[in-house]
Amino acid sequence: MKFKTQKIAYYFFAVSMLLLSLQIVYGFIMGFAHMGFDNLHDYIPFHAARATHTNLLVMWLLSGFMGAAYYITPEESGRELIFPKLAYVQLGAFVAVGVTAVIGFHFNWWEGRKFLEIPRPLDYLVVIDVLLFIFLIGGTIWKGRRYSTTNMVLFFGLLSAALLYLPGMIPTVNQTMDSYWRWWVVHLWVEGVWELIMGAILSFLLIKLTGVDREIIEKWLYVIVGFTFLSGILGTGHHYYFIGTPKYWLMIGGLFSALEPVAFLGMAIYAITMAKKGGRQHPNRLALTWTIGCSVMSFVGAGFLGFAHTLPQVNVYTHGTLVTAMHGHLAFWGAYAMLIFAIIAYAMPNLTGRKLYDSGWSTFAFWTSNIGMTAMTVAFGIAGVAQVYLERKMGLDFLLVQKEIEVHFLGLVMAAVLFSAGIFAFIWIFIKYGLPKGKVENASTNS
Ligand code: HEM
Ligand code: HEM
Ligand SMILES: [Fe+2]
Repeated sequence: MKFKTQKIAYYFFAVSMLLLSLQIVYGFIMGFAHMGFDNLHDYIPFHAARATHTNLLVMWLLSGFMGAAYYITPEESGRELIFPKLAYVQLGAFVAVGVTAVIGFHFNWWEGRKFLEIPRPLDYLVVIDVLLFIFLIGGTIWKGRRYSTTNMVLFFGLLSAALLYLPGMIPTVNQTMDSYWRWWVVHLWVEGVWELIMGAILSFLLIKLTGVDREIIEKWLYVIVGFTFLSGILGTGHHYYFIGTPKYWLMIGGLFSALEPVAFLGMAIYAITMAKKGGRQHPNRLALTWTIGCSVMSFVGAGFLGFAHTLPQVNVYTHGTLVTAMHGHLAFWGAYAMLIFAIIAYAMPNLTGRKLYDSGWSTFAFWTSNIGMTAMTVAFGIAGVAQVYLERKMGLDFLLVQKEIEVHFLGLVMAAVLFSAGIFAFIWIFIKYGLPKGKVENASTNS
């Protein structure tokens, strides 16, 4: 690594991997519950498992993004992080809030709003913690030697993500208004500002791994940011079809969200083209595999499978079914989980001085997790389409249909075992890398 303070990233990545493991445990609890084996119901009812599963997901992704920012910002701005000790405080507080929230879910202390279940008092602590994070990253860039496009897009992505947390805290007793604001957080995160974070991290990785000129890579980053905003902001309308908002959202939401896959397709073409163009053979091929894999799988999960249910004519049937879970899994996996795996795969050899990217386990981790997640998506898809036909087309009762489709969850759990094997191989290698050394190397040897 080039700056001592970059090693802070390691601890965020470690927290990220820990929370991911826990998320998977809750995934299995729900997988079995769907199969009819809801044996833990008295201790962990489905709603608590679900809230824990999705909130752990958001937490480990945020921890990964923060780790990425602590790694990238010193390098891009050419200086050490300001107040590095505060970064550890920020991590500690983040974990404390997260753990409290997750324990709370098991005692029915939650808000019951999908993805924003964290109770209000904890929301304020999240805000303070994120403000501290933004201050540390922003202050480092401000005092740094250069303002690179990559770093600025990353910073504004993170800052807007922090600001967009606030609409979810607007008090209202009206269910429609509550849903309306909730989507400002959930949709404008994953289909708006998180895409900026994604574009910036991909850009950083492509600059390091392909050897293509920074100017070329960053020019295309602007184009992708443009496409994202053009389609993603009004694309929010695809969540306003049937929640009590005016009818014009059917047209606006349908039209703009149908354009959203273009941004993801752009990202995939961007990464593949840069990798082909790059003359330099960076020894860490594995990091490049995760980088390209992320751009491709995000197109499949978010772009292609998002489009599959985004038109109101389709969504009227699929809304809130397992078709949504099918898309949710592959989109989150491709776009954001794989992104964090890519930056970890790139950063770990530099942080620890060990080069484990050539091991068979690394390749196993990539392929097994991806094949496993693709199979999980297919299982959710089959269960989802069966649910749509039985429940929405034929009008059978919800619970009766859930019973009918139990068998498909055997397929899901089997696929999930494969997926988990890949993930644990990745985590095993992460552990084998050991702690970061904190030794600053010559800039030319490790980039
Ligand atoms: C990386 C980007 C994306 C992620 C992580 C993601 C994830 C999700 C998740 C988790 C949900 C369920 C949300 C909830 O009910 O609270 C959802 C819903 C939805 N997504 Fe995405 N998505 C992404 C991109 C897209 C794109 C590009 C499209 C359209 C082309 C799309 C179309 C939809 C639609 C229509 C719904 C509503 C489903 C329903 O009515 O139940 N998504 N998405
Ligand atoms: C062993 C692995 C996993 C299993 C068995 C699993 C299983 C499940 C199940 C059964 C649900 C509830 C579906 C329902 O509402 O009925 C769920 C929800 C969800 N899971 Fe997983 N999951 C796993 C891993 C993951 C991973 C790695 C991610 C993200 C990359 C993820 C993202 C989600 C999301 C976003 C939802 C909410 C979907 C929606 O809004 O409809 N899961 N999961
Ligand atoms: Fe959306």
